[in-house]
Amino acid sequence: MRKLERIVILTGAGISAESGLGTFRDEGGLWAQHRIEDVATPEAFAHDPARVHQFYNVRRVQAAGAKPNAAHQALARLQAAWPGHVLLVTQNVDGLHEKAGAEVVHMHGELSRALCAACEHRWDSPQEMSVGETCPACDAPAARPDIVWFGEMPYHMEQILDAIQTCDLFAAIGTSGQVYPAAGFVEEARMAGAATVELNLRDSDMTHAFEEHVTGPASEIVPQWVDRLLQGR
Ligand code: APR
Repeated sequence: MRKLERIVILTGAGISAESGLGTFRDEGGLWAQHRIEDVATPEAFAHDPARVHQFYNVRRVQAAGAKPNAAHQALARLQAAWPGHVLLVTQNVDGLHEKAGAEVVHMHGELSRALCAACEHRWDSPQEMSVGETCPACDAPAARPDIVWFGEMPYHMEQILDAIQTCDLFAAIGTSGQVYPAAGFVEEARMAGAATVELNLRDSDMTHAFEEHVTGPASEIVPQWVDRLLQGR
C-alpha cells in the first residue's frame, strides 16, 4: 500500500446503531416501518407536510437524546491525531459525530437544521417543526427539515469527490451500499488507486468492491481499526 497521507471515511446508519438509533434497511428498520415515498421525498412533503414533519420530529428527539458510541469517538480521535489528513463524510443526520468532537461533512443534511424551500436560508431547527413555519430570512412559510430527500442532490459532492480522487485510503463504515451517489464512492476510490476497506456488521451490497473487510459491531471494530492505523503511521 502507498504511504497514507489522505484518508476519506464514509459512515452510514450502522455506526449509530449501538447508540440506539435504528438503521434504515436492517430488520425492523425505518424503511420497514415507513414508506420512503410517504416521508422522504419532496413530493411527500408537498402532499402531506404534517406527516413528514412528524417523521423527522420523532427522529430529532431520538437523536438529541442519543450519545456517541466508541466508534464515533475513535473516528474523532483519528482526526485529532492526524489533523488535516482525515475527511469524515457521513450520510447520517443524527449529529453524533459532532457530539464526539469530530469535524464532519454532512452529505444528507442534518436533523438539527431547517432549510427554507423558498430562499435556501438555513438555521437551527426547533425540536419540533410544524407546517407553515416561516423562514427567519425571507418570511416565506416554507420551512422544511434540512434533509436531502430521495430525488434531491446530496450536499458537498464536489468537495467529497475531489477528496476521494486524491485519497490513499477509502473506508466505508456501517452503510448498506444501496444509496447512490455514496454507494459509488468505493469505485471512484479504486479508480484513484486508493486502498479500500469496509467495516460492517455483515456483508453489504458493495462488499465485492472493497479489498479489505472488517466484520463486527462498529463500537468494537472501529476503535481497533483506528488503533492499527495510528500504530502503522
Ligand atoms: N456495526 C456496524 N455496522 C452495522 C451495525 C453495527 N452495530 N448495525 C448495522 N450495521 C450495518 C448494516 O449491516 C447495514 O449494512 O449498517 C448498514 C445500515 O444500512 P442502511 O440502513 O441502509 O443505512 P445507510 O447505508 O446509512 O443508508 C443510506 O439511505 O434512506 C437513506 O438517507 C438515508 O442516509 C441514508 C441512506
